[in-house]
Amino acid sequence: MPIKFSLSSTEPLSVAADVLVLGVPEGSSFKEGALGDLAKALGPSMAKTVKREEFTGKKDQTLELSANGTDLKPARVLLIGLGKPAAITEVEIRVFAAKGTRFALGAKATSLAIELPLLASVAAPAAAGAAVSGGSAERAAAEGVVLGAYRFTKYLTGDRVPKHQVERVTLLTAGKVGKEGKEGMALGQQIGEAVCIARDLINEPPNELHPVMLANRAVEVAKQHGLEFTVMDKAALVKKGMKLIVAVAQGSVHEPRVVHMVYKPVNGPAKKKLAFVGKGLTFDSGGLCIKPAPGMEEMKGDMGGAANVIALMAAVAALAPDIEVHGIIGCAENMPDGNAYRPGDVFGSYDGKTVEIINTDAEGRLVLADVLSYAAREIKPDLILDNATLTGACVVALGPTVSGFFSNRDEVAERVKKAAKLAGEALWHLPLVEDLREGLKSDWADLKHVADRWGGAITAALFLREFVGDVPWVHVDVAGPSMANKPYNVFAKGGTGHGVLTFLKLIEDYAAS
Ligand code: BES
Ligand code: MN
Ligand code: ZN
Repeated sequence: MPIKFSLSSTEPLSVAADVLVLGVPEGSSFKEGALGDLAKALGPSMAKTVKREEFTGKKDQTLELSANGTDLKPARVLLIGLGKPAAITEVEIRVFAAKGTRFALGAKATSLAIELPLLASVAAPAAAGAAVSGGSAERAAAEGVVLGAYRFTKYLTGDRVPKHQVERVTLLTAGKVGKEGKEGMALGQQIGEAVCIARDLINEPPNELHPVMLANRAVEVAKQHGLEFTVMDKAALVKKGMKLIVAVAQGSVHEPRVVHMVYKPVNGPAKKKLAFVGKGLTFDSGGLCIKPAPGMEEMKGDMGGAANVIALMAAVAALAPDIEVHGIIGCAENMPDGNAYRPGDVFGSYDGKTVEIINTDAEGRLVLADVLSYAAREIKPDLILDNATLTGACVVALGPTVSGFFSNRDEVAERVKKAAKLAGEALWHLPLVEDLREGLKSDWADLKHVADRWGGAITAALFLREFVGDVPWVHVDVAGPSMANKPYNVFAKGGTGHGVLTFLKLIEDYAAS
């Protein structure tokens, strides 16, 4: 059930909720606003607890206070440190709301009230550079709540089924409750729910979510959100000459699919077209170059890039920007049967180039190569951005919480950096090192798809670059952050949807310029 949100300007301590969450800017005096009222109501015991716990409002500090024995309406109050007041942006608000919601879940609360922190740009517009348009705090908070409340419990039974969930959330604003705030909150909820589509798909086990199912889910989402779509089944892919995705899938009993979704703005023809591409390997065993057993179960998440694209398309439909947005996913399963593709095989591609297969575990770049050249040639967009759980090397380089990205245009890379910062997601710009290009030379075909060990994330990106022609292009390697082994930031354990919020900010940037 979706969470029931409301926006209210009621005084926080008079809201009847199982948990009230208050944000505390660093250096707060505990004398003003709801904090001051709380200090008065709880008396010296609160001051003592605050002192004992050394709670000063530093970012990430939390303090739980019981309102038992007082006449305050909320049963419990959670204080969350917001850090320096001048650094409170939408990112801090999103994380704050997610944390408060996770606490509420842990406390078996079903109703939650969250006081919206004051954005630095609203508190001191001049210092922050620009005043922020209305509704952005509400949007960020609603996104955070939905993302924080996320759990994947579909396959749990009996005692393992959670008995409590967050049902009602009231966002408390110090200002008036207006149209902008309500719209921001509604949009934030829709965006949060869209990101959870990616999480659900990633967490789904690979026996349930095979390539045809993944394609079906994309179609369902497209229908629900009024998007145009086309599905290419194996026969269509063969006919189109997408020989690489067909090769990857030939060792599996499940057929490959490519799904192309399109969002078109209602106000006539769009000024710009952006295309987002996702790797959708519903399971990656490595094929004949089979992976070691430990950790192989994680390869159910090798469709994280495609899941992000599906989620993004749902979010774009909610955002309704004035540009055209395409989402294309390549769905396949990499398995080692008697018909599987082998090292040494040579295949053509949609682009026309021939590729010598070196390692069947480097299947993602093959699937992407065909989908990228399809996007470049048939859509002719102003930008193609692909995202994929592409290389272990990228995780070695940047750790499990940071995505690496590459671009054939420096100015586009700068826009991605800006979008990531606004979204609060960690993406790091990596170089397309030209020296490594010669590692992709083959004696038997136009290209090998794998070079030697070193710089594995870079050589994968260099291979992809061969298939986008001159179209401005970004490749995001989400191998690390697409799945989390523990909750952090706004992310849950398991599928995260890391990247979707950045791509959405990038779309907002293109739509505004
Ligand atoms: N799906 C994997 C990459 C991956 C690794 C994703 C860890 C998430 C976590 C990809 O298909 C793969 O197997 N890549 C190989 C490439 C190598 C054979 C050149 C890798 O990274 O080892
Ligand atoms: Mn692989
Ligand atoms: Zn893979």
